[in-house]
Amino acid sequence: MGAGVSAVAKGVPATLQWRDGDLHLLNQTRLPHHIEIERQDSAEQVWQSILQLKVRGAPAIGVAAAYGLCVAVKPSRNLALPDFRNILHQQASYLQSSRPTAVNLAWALQRMLRAATTAHQALDSTELYARLVEEAQRIHAEDIAICNGIGAQGVNLIQSGMGVLTHCNAGALATTGLGTATAPMYLAHQLGVNFKVYADETRPLLQGARLTAWELQSAGINVNLITDNMAASVMARGLIDLVIVGTDRVTANGDVVNKIGTLGVAILAKHFGLPFYVACPSSTIDLATPTGAQVEIEERASDEVTGFGPVRTAPHGMAVVNPAFDVTPHTLVSGLITEHGIISAPFAEGLKRVAMAALQS
Ligand code: MRU
Repeated sequence: MGAGVSAVAKGVPATLQWRDGDLHLLNQTRLPHHIEIERQDSAEQVWQSILQLKVRGAPAIGVAAAYGLCVAVKPSRNLALPDFRNILHQQASYLQSSRPTAVNLAWALQRMLRAATTAHQALDSTELYARLVEEAQRIHAEDIAICNGIGAQGVNLIQSGMGVLTHCNAGALATTGLGTATAPMYLAHQLGVNFKVYADETRPLLQGARLTAWELQSAGINVNLITDNMAASVMARGLIDLVIVGTDRVTANGDVVNKIGTLGVAILAKHFGLPFYVACPSSTIDLATPTGAQVEIEERASDEVTGFGPVRTAPHGMAVVNPAFDVTPHTLVSGLITEHGIISAPFAEGLKRVAMAALQS
């Protein structure tokens, strides 16, 4: 799992690598103008990297947390097994506390703990550590395969001449493969389909401008950057035929939790009669949570809103509301593009079927 370049475009490095027993993360806060790869040496460093969005995007956070747990327990692999297992559980809950909304974080860490529980009881800590690394590598390989599957399921939605709007970055940089929302775009491009992407810049942290626009441009895809408040206007002008976004969590009823601003795009799509699709890896399905109303929405620091990059724009002492995500009700969703097929309403049954298929694959 050491490939240092992304699958999608020359010049776009891999989101993360597990190389020579160490986790290396691409620092996405510095993109696109600075490429910095940082080795992760402790649980605290991984926790900070996730909180600060050095690694971000639901699937990438999941893979980073799985490897991050290996980083966290590596110094304890000479301890007695019961002590090692205690530390493993403590570090998993610590890493899970870094960000609350993307379910992939908890999903990956729970998988790691399950792998430890089902591992043969006669293993010593060093052997159990090796099993954990193998499980993280399996999660990583599955993420790449899931992206390919979403691409294959969604590619026919994109036809020549279309304008496709996307929000935030559900691209290669948000995963370890082709991305989720972008996977159908990369495959359509490879097939020679001539389409245009409109990328919302995604205030406050500009994942659309810094990441999506960059990775699509690097791949040679025709991409236009717009500010978030231009989405209605480009739709009104007839430039958009299709919306595809990613997601951080899809609840049992099909509600979609994604980057702040997604709800507005979905309402606009409904108003203009445009299909609104959500690329949804099985690792992002949360059947344990009935609706989006029960999902904890991360509230981030106020300085992300009171400034633009390093430049202060708002008056000093300004009160701020800064939710990082919103909930799009399932009634606004045309379809969920999963690696096991596109689910349409009613979503509950389809989501159960896909979750089951993922367990069996
Ligand atoms: O705060 P971020 O950058 O982690 O938010 C990312 C998103 O909201 C993405 O759309 C989502 O994680 C899907 S990524 C395939």
